[in-house]
Amino acid sequence: MHDATQRKDSAAVPAPALEWMTDPAPARVTCCTRSETPSVGFGSCSTGLQTSVRISRFRDPTATDPRRPSVAIIADLDETPIEGSCVLQPEFALGDEGRFLIRLLCPPKTRFYGTGEVAGPLRRNGRTTTLWNTDSFGYDIETPSLYQSHPWVLGLRDDGSAFGLLIDTTGRCEINLDADIGVAAEGYAPPVYLIEGGSPQDVLEALAGLIGTTPLPPLWALGFHQCRYSYGSEHEVLEIAEQFRERWLPCDTLWLDIDYMDGLRSFTIDPHRFPDVEKMVAQLRVWGFRTAWILDPGIEVDPEDETFASGELLDVFVRSQEGERFEGEVWPGRCAFPDFMNADARRWWGDLTARFVRRCGADGVWNDMNEPSVFDGPGRTLPVDCVHHADPELGGPGTHARYHNIYGMQMARASREGLLRERSDRRPFVLSRSNFLGGHRYACCWTGDSTSTWEHLSWTIPMMLNLGMSGQPLAGCDIGGFADNADDMLLARWMGIGCLLPFARAHSDKNTNRHEPWSFGHGCEHACRLALERRYRLLPYTYTLFAQAEQTGLPPMRPLFFADPSDPSLRDAEDSFLLGRDVLVRASVRLDNVCESPMPKGVWRYFEPAEQSDDNLPRLLLRGGAILPMGPIMQHTGQWPLDPVTLVVSLDAAGEAEGVLYEDAGEGFGYREGEYLMTRYVAQREGKHLRLWIEGAEGERARPLRVAEVVVLLDDGEAVRATGVGGDVIRVLLG
Ligand code: NOJ
Repeated sequence: MHDATQRKDSAAVPAPALEWMTDPAPARVTCCTRSETPSVGFGSCSTGLQTSVRISRFRDPTATDPRRPSVAIIADLDETPIEGSCVLQPEFALGDEGRFLIRLLCPPKTRFYGTGEVAGPLRRNGRTTTLWNTDSFGYDIETPSLYQSHPWVLGLRDDGSAFGLLIDTTGRCEINLDADIGVAAEGYAPPVYLIEGGSPQDVLEALAGLIGTTPLPPLWALGFHQCRYSYGSEHEVLEIAEQFRERWLPCDTLWLDIDYMDGLRSFTIDPHRFPDVEKMVAQLRVWGFRTAWILDPGIEVDPEDETFASGELLDVFVRSQEGERFEGEVWPGRCAFPDFMNADARRWWGDLTARFVRRCGADGVWNDMNEPSVFDGPGRTLPVDCVHHADPELGGPGTHARYHNIYGMQMARASREGLLRERSDRRPFVLSRSNFLGGHRYACCWTGDSTSTWEHLSWTIPMMLNLGMSGQPLAGCDIGGFADNADDMLLARWMGIGCLLPFARAHSDKNTNRHEPWSFGHGCEHACRLALERRYRLLPYTYTLFAQAEQTGLPPMRPLFFADPSDPSLRDAEDSFLLGRDVLVRASVRLDNVCESPMPKGVWRYFEPAEQSDDNLPRLLLRGGAILPMGPIMQHTGQWPLDPVTLVVSLDAAGEAEGVLYEDAGEGFGYREGEYLMTRYVAQREGKHLRLWIEGAEGERARPLRVAEVVVLLDDGEAVRATGVGGDVIRVLLG
């Protein structure tokens, strides 16, 4: 990710009131110059500037705490920045109530983004976020804390250059964004990392250098997911599956919410409503469905219960300050809470998860209620003075105040590790409600208990974008909204947008009207079908983006201003976004079906991946200069390999275009050993013809012999087509 040309600077002069850190650490990321010479397709997708990104670590020199381990950062600094290398300089001070203050004075007109999972506007100026993971059913834009915490701010200067500030604390912390950045942290004075230089894309790539990238998900996880609280019997699950297939509604995964459990206890299955899950899963497999099953952290206090008894024996549960096992109310009743900060507890949980997925044949695991949510706990969670026996590399024994924000992250880690031990040849898929900066290495996330309203729909795009700009690109929302009743228009519109998000899962609460695509009659079902078909047709492109994301850290879903960071008009766009560099999505989140965002400069041409369009679906545009790989409409990802492959061409002003397609087994880790194929396609206008050919390829996977369909988008809105056999030069008469 970072160029090897990293400088070592020796004599650093401490800046006033700051202390440069020089600790030796495992990986080097400071002062790296990143060059823009991409390989066939994995290279950086940023703006093409030759930039120098600097990462510096600062801490309050008066802080008495020894250096704390960081859970977010995997590649720590080992270099000392040169004096004056940082334009911005954080200031540290002591605030009231023992809080530690950090202030970063920013250039005038700086726009702020990031801070993770936040509802409301894309741009965060004027907003305060409290980092304290909270079960926030039916939240709104005034809710100070949602389910996840990302102590990270991306700053965009008026000239389009960017910087980022990472506050390295797991404790409760308030981030105040106005003209400048203000932080008030509890517990101790956290160090901060400042990333400077280049475009916002450069800064996000540098962030990924610190916190790691998102592992490529299995292909099926990028298909469509259907959920409900709850599909309450084998019969109902199979009926839902049948409906999808009979109605030709593409779908990969059905989700099992808590009502599959016996007495709502994790790792149990209700023997009456789910008497033969093996048979149910086998039948679903025949129809091309996967399953993902929910597992909550609260374990009912019942000595007769195997899970509780084994946890007691191994002493895995969180204890109170007085040394008693802490107990609190969740779905099954009185519960104890595993101490995921501890390696033995994670191992115990991971083994239970492994045994469970073996028993029911689950493909994915869903970790919910893991802030953790405790119905009768103070602030609906564990008391802050509960004690965790945390591993030394997390910071050693400490209170819940210190570890609260990473409870969900460490749970997701335990689940992922358990799945990996059980099936080392499969990519684990974990969805986690609670998480923390860096937790993208373990789990996908969704934005929790939203409400079926237009307002909530309008927050979806900014929420996804800010998560992506906070190192969590694999994210989705409950399509249709979770709480309350949706209607046909809202569901159709939400489905249109939701099917273009990185993770696409429809979900709804108990006692709400049904949100399956057929619930509101023919018109809505038709729009949903087209939205789903679009998702599957675009999958070769989005899968390529995720393969690139594992290398670069750039989110597949990007704000409009990434197209041109220097254009101020794009910086507040909340109803448009980019998929990669090449696809622009213009959505409407309002009943009147108007998209308000401006367009970036340059050539952009409309295209429609499904065979028909529908007014309720966002409009899609392809950048001039891009070749977009698409697949055929399919009902689930088990219908790959990709044949035919469709290459949609949008020529630039010079009459040229290029694009890449990534392919691998869709599962497993062979791709990390070279078992993949990244193909670079190039097209050029030659008189009245367009010539398209393969310019280069990377990886050891053989290219299947298949039909390639070329679609050239013309300036008058029409398109011309030609087919050939993949690998050949294809000529298209432009008319
Ligand atoms: C809360 C989750 O946010 C929701 O998605 C789920 O359906 C319920 N818990 C029940 O498990």
